[in-house]
Amino acid sequence: MTTTIDKQVQETSWAKAISKPASEFPLTQLSIISGQVPENLKGSLYRNGPARLERGEFHVGHWFDGDGAILAVHFAEGKARATYRYVQTEGYLEEELAGKLIYGNYGMTATGKWWQRFGKSSKNVANTSVIALPDKLLALWEGGAPHALDLETLETFGVENLEGLEHRLPYSAHPKRDPQTGEIFNFGVSYGKNATLHLYRSDRNGNLIKKNQATLAGLSMIHDFVLAGDYLIFCVPPLRMNPFPLLLNLKSYSDSLAWKPEEGTEIFVFDRHNLELVSRNVAEPWYQWHFGNGYSDRDRNVVFDLIRYPNFATNQYLKEIASGKTKTHAQGTLWQMRLNPQTGEFLQMSELCDRGSEFPSVAPAQVGQNSRYTYLSIHRPDAVINQELFGAIARYDYQTNTLTEANFGANRYPMEPLFAPDSVNSNSGYVITVVFDGDRECSEVWIFDSDRLNDEPVCRLALASVVPMGFHGTWR
Ligand SMILES: [Fe+2]
Repeated sequence: MTTTIDKQVQETSWAKAISKPASEFPLTQLSIISGQVPENLKGSLYRNGPARLERGEFHVGHWFDGDGAILAVHFAEGKARATYRYVQTEGYLEEELAGKLIYGNYGMTATGKWWQRFGKSSKNVANTSVIALPDKLLALWEGGAPHALDLETLETFGVENLEGLEHRLPYSAHPKRDPQTGEIFNFGVSYGKNATLHLYRSDRNGNLIKKNQATLAGLSMIHDFVLAGDYLIFCVPPLRMNPFPLLLNLKSYSDSLAWKPEEGTEIFVFDRHNLELVSRNVAEPWYQWHFGNGYSDRDRNVVFDLIRYPNFATNQYLKEIASGKTKTHAQGTLWQMRLNPQTGEFLQMSELCDRGSEFPSVAPAQVGQNSRYTYLSIHRPDAVINQELFGAIARYDYQTNTLTEANFGANRYPMEPLFAPDSVNSNSGYVITVVFDGDRECSEVWIFDSDRLNDEPVCRLALASVVPMGFHGTWR
């Protein structure tokens, strides 16, 4: 009997974080709940995610549709200050004035009668990730251009074209920064008769210095890619979009996508320097949102990891999150792949850990190179996966093939864990996550020693208001 009650509490607890629009707060010093802010933690954590899922009488159709709000936490001299701000996109401001949702998005059509919806563009929700450039923060969304914000206050400057991003071409939410050269790689997908993959290489300031493009086999969707040594690897899932109901605004983008396993996963390998195609191939079908990291091994093959799903049911589960209750079972697990970049053929694919997980990341200094650890969000061992959000974070050790985890207990929801180096000894560092506590209905910043994830956090900080579970962040 007790178990049933516990589970009911668990099932609904995370929904409290998104049941009403999140509130902004100005730059405030954070109070310490326990421990101390490490003296050698110097820099800023930025996190992005959908913070408003309704306006007026309308509710979004998918978790991906919410307006983006950014959390900045600045650490210096053993203290932390934070601010939380919505990205002031054109669509956000227009809807705020109108007091209702107007535009369509990934998982919803525009509001209004069908003839009013025809030809209406979608809103850039700027809600997926961030990248910190020397003089600005970019809020990223894969369907459009980035928005530039003030690194300190998060004031929105406006749409950013990176000195060369063509009008209306998207700049996706998973750029990769080479830690040695500072170069930034990214892509965007545009749709016409075919889907076009646009490739971008930028200097350390974010300015575009090289572009190229390739045509995909079908109208699919790409969320992420991997930088591995000298290569950029794309695994294009076997999704096919039916464009007609989408163009007429009768169906959303998400509802226009069909899972077509018979098409297989299309593999593209590009040379990172000139962005030219090296190889192209078709592999067995799977779906991934995210890659962890990649590198070139001694045999000049490419090794990378990803969170692999057997199909696209994950999209339905993520759609259900917006309603506050999920029922679809969709479990992604950590896999490692070995690929011959010259042929695009896989030499090996193996599941490393069978626990449901997501949001793999590595230390920023190791992107594109062989790295010992991957950090992940992971389900608690007793989680009812089709009803729950992640309740733990973990570090996977490729040398020992072991997992070290921080289990947050019932009704606590940590976001994507990010590694922040110690400012004196860059071989050690911290893992930072933002946690929603469903029992107390508040959010906290938790800092762990990266080598002691299964110990108590070294510091817990109270945030001024609830910061709902979001997608991605960065350390600067
Ligand atoms: Fe993502």
